[in-house]
Amino acid sequence: MPQRSHLVFEPDIQDALSQYIVDLYVDETDAQRQISEKTAAQGLPQIDLRAEEGWMLMFLTRLVQAKHVVEIGTLAGYSATWIARGLPDDGKLITLELEQKHADIARANFKATGVSDKIDILVGEAGKTLASLKGSFDLVFIDADKEGYEDYLTWAIENVRSGGLITAHNAFQHGSLVAKVPDPARTNGVKHMDAFNRRVASDKRLLSTIIPVGDGFVAAIVL
Ligand SMILES: C[S@@+](CC[C@H](N)C(=O)[O-])C[C@H]1O[C@@H](n2cnc3c(N)ncnc32)[C@H](O)[C@@H]1O
Repeated sequence: MPQRSHLVFEPDIQDALSQYIVDLYVDETDAQRQISEKTAAQGLPQIDLRAEEGWMLMFLTRLVQAKHVVEIGTLAGYSATWIARGLPDDGKLITLELEQKHADIARANFKATGVSDKIDILVGEAGKTLASLKGSFDLVFIDADKEGYEDYLTWAIENVRSGGLITAHNAFQHGSLVAKVPDPARTNGVKHMDAFNRRVASDKRLLSTIIPVGDGFVAAIVL
């Protein structure tokens, strides 16, 4: 094995690197910032993307020249606004959310951000919604219950065009995936995410990797 220099990312270094990306590249609008800032006060869990992750999602949307996108896991709509910013004027994002309250807040946030015309929210259990959703999508972004990730992948492979992209958040489970002392609260997430990562990596219909921005994005091109 060739000896390479180690990548040693202590927590403060990782935060500093994220901030470096934000400072240099990320153009977050005030309306987007407010979505994230209000999320906890509105009684929702603060589990939305970080700004540099949102920026990268917009970047990927542009990269594959996406016009038709599906997101699984809306929350207050923060990540959806980034996808919408990456879409052309006639592009459309369909975002799936289990909780009516989350969807209502997201709808108001889309209005405030000026992206309502580009986004449809479908409320319900994603597995059921996807069963009646067929298409040739350019991009699917998965960011919901980890137990569902493998089923969402199966659907995505069937419904993303050749050359399109499937991406999924929390590939690293905040480091617990490889940590010597994993966070016990993440045991279930690690189990499902590891199974998901392995399945993506071994599927010959996909060309895939993990993009190590934030908590890691699985990224798979459909061949
Ligand atoms: C991590 S949050 C999404 C964050 C969002 N992508 C963002 O960055 O702004 C996960 C969301 O998925 C929703 N969710 C969880 N299980 C679901 C399911 N089975 N079907 C649809 N939505 C689900 C939750 O209610 C929650 O709002």
